[in-house]
Amino acid sequence: MRYLNIGDPVAFGFKTPPHLISAVERAMRDGHNGYGPSPGIAAGREAVAAEYTSRGFPVSPDRTFLTAGTSEGIELVLGALLDDKSDVLVPMPTYPLYTAVIARLGARALFYRTDPERGWMPDLNHLRSLVTPATRALIVIDPNNPTGASYPAATRRALLDVAEAHGLAIVADEVYGDLGYDGPVAPIGSLDPDAAIITFSSLSKAYLAPGWRAGWLGIGRSPRLNDVVKAVGKLADGRLCSTLPMQYAITAAMNGDRSHQVTFRAALRERAAVTHECLNAIPGISSVAATAGFYAMPRVTLPPGKSDEDYVLALLRSTGILCVYGSGFGTAPEDGYMRIVFLAAPEELRDIYKSMSEFTQEYLAR
Ligand SMILES: Cc1ncc(COP(=O)(O)O)c(C=O)c1O
Repeated sequence: MRYLNIGDPVAFGFKTPPHLISAVERAMRDGHNGYGPSPGIAAGREAVAAEYTSRGFPVSPDRTFLTAGTSEGIELVLGALLDDKSDVLVPMPTYPLYTAVIARLGARALFYRTDPERGWMPDLNHLRSLVTPATRALIVIDPNNPTGASYPAATRRALLDVAEAHGLAIVADEVYGDLGYDGPVAPIGSLDPDAAIITFSSLSKAYLAPGWRAGWLGIGRSPRLNDVVKAVGKLADGRLCSTLPMQYAITAAMNGDRSHQVTFRAALRERAAVTHECLNAIPGISSVAATAGFYAMPRVTLPPGKSDEDYVLALLRSTGILCVYGSGFGTAPEDGYMRIVFLAAPEELRDIYKSMSEFTQEYLAR
């Protein structure tokens, strides 16, 4: 089996920075093994708030929460914002947790297209056409999983304008924000510090510790979000706290050495280039170049009657290569999309794409 399906850098040999491991170990040895404060330890909240503020999005510590990964941030914030009468704008393709949480809350997802012909940018006209009086929030995943896109400032401003025009909160999933190949991507909140923006991130990707389930969220200073701060606080009280020793690693991550990110970004850039070159060389496959993170979403032109799942399962059976079919992220099965995680070493990726090429040519000739 060759696993190109899970976005876990540790599974591909990338190492958690030692100073973060030391911070967790020290916290445990110092006895920080009980419940912690529900919103998170003060030093961690202050460090996260200072980080956003230094990047141009002013967030105060009392509007910062430490969470069990970005995932819990998503649950807390959507739980605070939505009910069974709410609509929420969600990118398509999407990260599946959003669809699941929205369904559990009984809210309605309005999927706005992102366009592979334009580098997977949001289709702003489509987005605007979807807004209803019941729409409460606009979810923006930037840099994006599953597409590998990151949005230029003009696109981000246009998203802010739509939200502002309709009184929506922007729910900004920025978990890949430090993994732009040209350097960290500024939070969307830096474009308008007064906009109603809630941002999430975690140690999972850019700090190489996904198993720690350590993340955070920051709620901007817009008074429109004061009730969200209160509601997230109540929901956070209900679940007691996120993993306490790992909160000490969040403080260490914000305040400490980030040289591992320079190396990681360079490794990702190289893998993205290999992926782009090799996938586009396969007859019948086309792929948009990723600009951040470690995902690509290529498309195979399927024979009539075949689905993305048929192709992905046949690829798996024939070659042992596992990727996720696009319909798992909401694309149409007949469109032939799949998502690839390109964290493997470049030479291994070349080898994988060679097998994929041989298989695909044979599959399309059947
Ligand atoms: C867009 C996006 N949001 C959230 C998550 C969840 O991350 P975490 O490990 O921080 O919960 C992921 C993980 O792959 C992701 O890709």
